[in-house]
Parts: sequence; C-alpha cells; structure tokens
Amino acid sequence: MDTNIKKQIENFKKENDAVLLAHYYVGPEIQEVADRVGDSFYLAQVGQELDNKVILMAGVYFMGETLKILNPEKRIFMLNAKADCPMAHMVSHDKIRELREKYDDLKVVCYVNSGAETKALSDVCVTSSNSEKICKNLDTENIFFIPDENLGRYIAEKIPEKNIILNKDGYCPIHNGIDKKELEALKEAHPKAKVLAHPECRKEILDLADYIGSTKGIIKEVANFNTDEFIIVTVKRMAYELEKTYPDKKFYYLNSLVCPDMEMPKVEDILTCMQSEENEIHVDEEVAKKALRPLQKMLELGSR
Ligand code: 13P
Ligand code: SF4
Repeated sequence: MDTNIKKQIENFKKENDAVLLAHYYVGPEIQEVADRVGDSFYLAQVGQELDNKVILMAGVYFMGETLKILNPEKRIFMLNAKADCPMAHMVSHDKIRELREKYDDLKVVCYVNSGAETKALSDVCVTSSNSEKICKNLDTENIFFIPDENLGRYIAEKIPEKNIILNKDGYCPIHNGIDKKELEALKEAHPKAKVLAHPECRKEILDLADYIGSTKGIIKEVANFNTDEFIIVTVKRMAYELEKTYPDKKFYYLNSLVCPDMEMPKVEDILTCMQSEENEIHVDEEVAKKALRPLQKMLELGSR
C-alpha cells in the first residue's frame, strides 16, 4: 500500500484515539493496516483489552454491535454500516418464546452472527470456535440453537446426549450455497490437499473435510498437518492471513466463496467513517442490558 495513505491512517488513528479491528474476511488492504485481525470470538474479546476511546470495525454489523454492548463507554464505528450478515436476521422471536413455553429447562444458545434483540432473548452466545464446548457444559438437556442450522447440526452430532433443536430458517447464504461438485473437482485436481472447512457449510460438504473449525481454527490447524497443500472451504479472503503465516504452503479456494457484505468496507472508509452518523453503533439501552448477559457468559465459558 501507498506509504502516504498508511501514514494518514496512522495519524488519523492517533488523533482520534482510535484502533482498527478487522475480520479475516475483509479485503487484504484493510487487514494490512488493521491493529488487530481475528475471528468473531477474538473480535468480541479484544475490546475489553483496549484503552482506546474509539474502535473502528472492519467487518459486518453484528461484530460492531457486540463490541458496543460489551464496551458501552467506547464509541464504535463501522467502516460501512450497510455491511450486515444476512444470517443475523434469520430467526423468529416467536419461535424462541414458543419453545420456552414448551420446555421448562430450555436454554437458547445464540451464535454471535445475530442481532442484539435476538441475543437479548438468549441464555448464552457462542461462536464457531466455542459452541461445542459451551453447549456440552450447559446444565440442561434441551437447547434451541439459533440462528445457524448447519452449525447447530454439526454440534448436535458431536453431543448426542443433548436434545439440540435446530432453527430451520437460518443459514449463511455463502457457506450454505457451496456446490459439492466444485469442491469435488478441486479435490480431484489436488489429491494431496487436506480440506479445511467452516461449520457453516452443509453436512454433505463437511463430510468431505479433514478439519472443521472457525476461521482462526483453520489458520492454526494448517500447522498440524503433515502436508503442504490445503483446500480452504470458507471465504476466500482468508488467503491474506494464510499466505502471510505459511508462505511455503499452497492453498486452493472455491471461486464462489465471496461474502458480499465483508467486501463492503474499503480502506478509504477508515479516514471517513467517523463523519457519518449512520456508522456509529447505538444499541437501545434495555436491549443492550439484556444482550450483555449472554455475551459475558460466552466470554467466561468460551475462554476457559
Ligand atoms: P468465525 O467466527 O469463524 O470468524 O466466522 C464468522 C463468520 O461470519 C463465518 O462466516
Ligand atoms: Fe454472514 Fe456468511 Fe458473510 Fe459470515 S460469510 S458474515 S455468516 S454472510
């Protein structure tokens, strides 16, 4: 990147006491200048370690919203407030209330890819890096896992002793839409490659994987395989971190794996995002109060 722009960004952050956080799925030019890059769990955790008054978030809306709920004293700005994960809205609140009536011991486990109102109706939040551990340790038999049906099914198979009720309406349009034939063709072209997949994929895709985990899990797991070739079954933007961390290894990606919302934030937005009111995150006080509990529980149970 142009050193002039890099300098401008550095000065801007200093002047505003701001720190830039980015998810592994955003464009490489943003990851290059971000202060911290991580998966959803890390991005939720890291806010509490930072002293800065302002956080600029390069990712999708729920990530900024989660940070605001956990750090109400800080000002949180999305680089682009229109970048929103569609899955975050794919659960019926009436269904949550209905199931609470039906099962006395029901715990609602809410994937962080969800809106604040949904979190406020839940018992505990999870990310793909800790959902199995958290669900396993809940002192209840009946769990309603929202909003992602695929992640819920993957967890349910790992914990057969629990009755995990799935949300039929929730999925990631990108991971859920993967064409099995595209993956099979990639496997055939690179027979030595190990397949690393995100649990938001459908079961028939996960059945072809050698490892299933969060974005950070996938990056870490590369080091544990005795091979130099990998097929990455999650958003292609992971290439930046993977190729930086493992310059001697070869990675192959599925062409269809682009998240349009994660493409929305642009490097120029770093300098301008604080000018637009719509980019600053505000959460209704009552909703934030209720959503804080399940998020704090996730930080407590997920990092143990
Ligand atoms: P991670 O929690 O693995 O970073 O994934 C977030 C996400 O949006 C996956 O599509
Ligand atoms: Fe949401 Fe899917 Fe994009 Fe992740 S990849 S942010 S789950 S739409």
